[in-house]
Amino acid sequence: MTIRRIAVLGAGGFLGSHLVPALLARFGATIDAVDVDFRKLDRSDPRVVATRARVEEPALVRDIVGRCDVVISLTALCNPSLYSTSPLEVIDASYTHLVPLVEACARYRVRLIHFSTAEVYGRLAVDSAGERTELMNEDTSGLLLGPVNRERWSYACAKQLLERVIWAHGTHGDLEFSIVRPFNVIGPRMDYVPGVDGEGIPRVLPSFIGALFSGSELPLVDGGTQRRAFMSTRDLSEAVCLMLERREAARCQIFNVGNPGNDVSIRELAERLAAEFRLRAPGAPEPRLRDVSARDFYGDGYDDSEQRVPDIGKAMRLLGWNPRDTLDEMIPGIMEDYLRRYSSLFLLRRVTRPEEVPVPVVRTSAG
Ligand code: UGA
Repeated sequence: MTIRRIAVLGAGGFLGSHLVPALLARFGATIDAVDVDFRKLDRSDPRVVATRARVEEPALVRDIVGRCDVVISLTALCNPSLYSTSPLEVIDASYTHLVPLVEACARYRVRLIHFSTAEVYGRLAVDSAGERTELMNEDTSGLLLGPVNRERWSYACAKQLLERVIWAHGTHGDLEFSIVRPFNVIGPRMDYVPGVDGEGIPRVLPSFIGALFSGSELPLVDGGTQRRAFMSTRDLSEAVCLMLERREAARCQIFNVGNPGNDVSIRELAERLAAEFRLRAPGAPEPRLRDVSARDFYGDGYDDSEQRVPDIGKAMRLLGWNPRDTLDEMIPGIMEDYLRRYSSLFLLRRVTRPEEVPVPVVRTSAG
C-alpha cells in the first residue's frame, strides 16, 4: 500500500525535527506535523501540514486517525531531571495522554509506530531470571526497575505500561504496531542549553556543551563511570523509514534502535566533547570536569542506568538496518552546529577553518 499521509506527533521536538526531513526525502507522503512548539522544525516543504495541538485533545486524535495511514508518536517528557521532580506530568505524557490515541488507532485500523525508550530495561541488562547479561534484548531481557521511592523510574514504568497496552491491542485485537526503543540518540537541536533557551538540567550532551560554552565545569554525575551507547539521528531516522517500507517485517514487533559500537563512559564523552571544543574555540577557557553526586545534582529520587547496550540483531535481520555513524564521525558535526547557533551568545572566538588547528590527542572509543 502506498503511504499517502503520515502523522508525526511531537514533530517539533528533537527527534521529530530530524525524522520529518528524512520522511520527506524518502516518501511522497504528506506529513501531518503535530506539536505545541515548532521552532526546531523546518516547515518550508509544502507537504508539511503543521497543527498546533496537544496529543491529549480528543478532536486532534479523531482528525489524525481519520486522515492518516500511519501515526508516528514521539511525544514524551524524556528528560531524567523531570522524572523525580515532576513524575505526574511525566507519567501523564507517556501513558495517560496516549491511551486514547492507541485505542483510536486500534479501532480505526491505523498503523502505529510508537516511540518507547531504552529506559524500560532499567538499571542494567538482565535475563528473565535476573542474571546479568551483556546486551539488552527486546524479547528475552528482564526489565529491572528500582523501587517506587526511586522516582527516576516513573518514566520507564509509564513507557513500559503503554508498551503493554499496545502489545495487548496488537495480539488480542487488530492494532498494527511497531515499538521503537531508541538508545541515547544525540545530535543538533537536543533539549536546550541552560540559561540560553531553557532552564534546568538537560540531557548529557547539551548539558556538557552548555558547560563548555559558558566556561563552567562539566558535571560528571557519580564520577561519570556509567556508560551509554550513543547513536546518530540519521541512523535512527533510517530505522524508522525501513519500518515504514518493510511493513510485514515490522508488524507487531518491538525494535531496539541503538549503536552498540558507540558504548562509552560518560567521562569519556565529556573528554571527547572537550577535545573537540578546544579544537574549534582555542581562545575559550580550558575545559574542566567536576565530579558531583547524583543526589546533589538531581536531588532525591534519582537513580541511574549503569550501562545499556542494545542487541540490534532483530532490526538488522528483519529491517536490513545497520547503524553506521561512529562517535568520532558524529561529534564534529554536532559541535559545529551548536557553535553556529549559540556561540555568539557566549562570545566565543570561533575557528573558521578547523583543519588548520593541530589535532589534540583524543582517547579512542571503547566500543
Ligand atoms: C535519557 C532518557 O531517560 C531516555 O528516555 C532517553 O531515551 C535517553 O536519555 C536517550 O537519550 O535516549 P539517560 O541516558 O540517563 O536517559 O539521560 P542523560 O540525561 O543523557 O544522562 C546520561 C548519563 O549522563 C546519566 O548517567 C547521567 O547521570 C549523566 N549525566 C547527565 C552527567 O554525568 N552529567 C550531566 O550533566 C548530565
